[in-house]
Amino acid sequence: MKMKKYVLDLEVVSNEVLSNIHALIKLRATDPLPEMYPGQFVEVRVEDSPSTFLRRPISVNFVDHRKNQLWLLIAAIGEGTRHLIRLRAGDRLNCLLPLGNGFTLPESPGVKMLLVGGGVGVAPLLYMGSEIKKKGGEPVFLLGARSKEGLLEMDLFKQFGRVYITTEDGSVGEKGFVTQHTVLNEERFDRIATCGPKPMMMSVARYAERAGIECEASLENNMACGIGACLCCVEKTIDGNIRVCQEGPVLNTRKLLWLH
Ligand code: FES
Repeated sequence: MKMKKYVLDLEVVSNEVLSNIHALIKLRATDPLPEMYPGQFVEVRVEDSPSTFLRRPISVNFVDHRKNQLWLLIAAIGEGTRHLIRLRAGDRLNCLLPLGNGFTLPESPGVKMLLVGGGVGVAPLLYMGSEIKKKGGEPVFLLGARSKEGLLEMDLFKQFGRVYITTEDGSVGEKGFVTQHTVLNEERFDRIATCGPKPMMMSVARYAERAGIECEASLENNMACGIGACLCCVEKTIDGNIRVCQEGPVLNTRKLLWLH
């Protein structure tokens, strides 16, 4: 999908600490934000960080159209993202958006969607769930983390649908991995959308394949330019190499070599 891209200087409205490495940044635009789809991403410019030359790709976590706000969920895992979680209200963040292709939204409210996320990979699923609910659907979330502290935005997810949880240490929800949750044996879903660590998405893709369910995954390959020029995000697929920032980041898992 070709969409016009914008470079916007957005104002930080708030930067909320969610855990020792996670933060939720809410950004406000002066003019109405352009249309963005769940699964698309933003390349943000990190100012005042001499070691961070390139923009950083961050998933769209939520778009609050009423307040004209864009939300980004940040995991501080490198110099650039550590800088981002220190931003304060009133600071500005330069964003290139919207980038990439998002998840396929269900064509009717009757399509039963399961949204499976792990760690900070839950980010695009909040916006996806809100868009499904807006169109009358009832998304089901299956969210996993190592432990309770890694579960992010749980109250927000609950506003949009049923939420099932797994933690590896059993501190909340069922103990184990998302693909071991009992809801997968008890309910039938029409489609799955997933985002999170690669081993988790691969196991979700294998589950979907066994169950005969269409599945899309949002890949988190390393990215630099975000606009198809540097080739650092290449992924092998059954149709040859693709650039995840252009043809993805959301891809049907049957196209990937994960199942082969
Ligand atoms: Fe540069 Fe994809 S990030 S080509």
